[in-house]
Amino acid sequence: MTILIEQAHDHFGNDVEEKKADINEKELVLDGGFVIPHSNSFGHSFRNYDVESERQEGVENFYRKNHTYQCYDFVKKMREEYGKLNRAEMSIWECCELLNEVVDESDPDLDEPQMEHLLQTAEAIRKDYPNQDWLHLTGLIHDLGKVLLLPSFGGLPQWAVVGDIFPVGCRFDESNVHYKYFKENPDYNNPAFNTKYGIYSENCGLNNVMMSWGHDDYMYLVAKENKTTLPSAALFIIRYHSFYAMHREGAYKHLMNDEDVENLKWLHIFNKYDLYSKSKVRIDVEKVKPYYLSLIEKYFPTAKLRW
Ligand SMILES: [Fe+2]
Ligand SMILES: [Fe+2]
Repeated sequence: MTILIEQAHDHFGNDVEEKKADINEKELVLDGGFVIPHSNSFGHSFRNYDVESERQEGVENFYRKNHTYQCYDFVKKMREEYGKLNRAEMSIWECCELLNEVVDESDPDLDEPQMEHLLQTAEAIRKDYPNQDWLHLTGLIHDLGKVLLLPSFGGLPQWAVVGDIFPVGCRFDESNVHYKYFKENPDYNNPAFNTKYGIYSENCGLNNVMMSWGHDDYMYLVAKENKTTLPSAALFIIRYHSFYAMHREGAYKHLMNDEDVENLKWLHIFNKYDLYSKSKVRIDVEKVKPYYLSLIEKYFPTAKLRW
């Protein structure tokens, strides 16, 4: 099965991926009867359109839904649901291969799979930071949470998997992309959630902050619950690599503690590779595989992880 993804950039240059697959219009019902509003705005065929305007429209539409539906309640339910880790048992490498079923359609090399992005990121970091093996592995696994798009993981809509992320439970910062759409979010007018600190306290640490749901938080949960020994900077990168308001705009500093500030330095380094390793450098997967398998073994106590 192949899911086609169209990749675009919003005006901050962030990656926004829009699924162009056969999502049906039915609402998505997770175990426990929780209903996710589900729609198909990306089911168009963009070949017949002006690609750029179509993309811009797609990005706007994406954030309208993302900002409307990603409220505190939604995030809490998703964390509870996916925190059970009862969807699959597989190794990291198996998950990389699974992610290959997701293809970026904006790429002229239509067949360039996600695995290439993971390995390109990891290998580019490895070249410049040969001694930081934990950062190589972080490059490999940072996007694995995108399996949430696959039917076997609930087939979540794009707005619940990719795009920029932001804290819920406190006021939405205006530096968040397409801020205007937060006005449709149920939390926007909720006095418990719409103050500077909301339910949090000064410098409480991002660890204690609920982030909008997506591939970042999911992979963070998977790594943490499977008892990874990766350093806290790695978990920080995994959980916040799409938190552009924080790592690019400098917002939400009042929620960060000293450890977050330290870890942010690594995220800034990582981010350069995440964005710019999407080059045409082809990776010989079989050649680098043994190295990454050794890292996985080093930093994960069990071969099969719960997902
Ligand atoms: Fe990502
Ligand atoms: Fe990435």
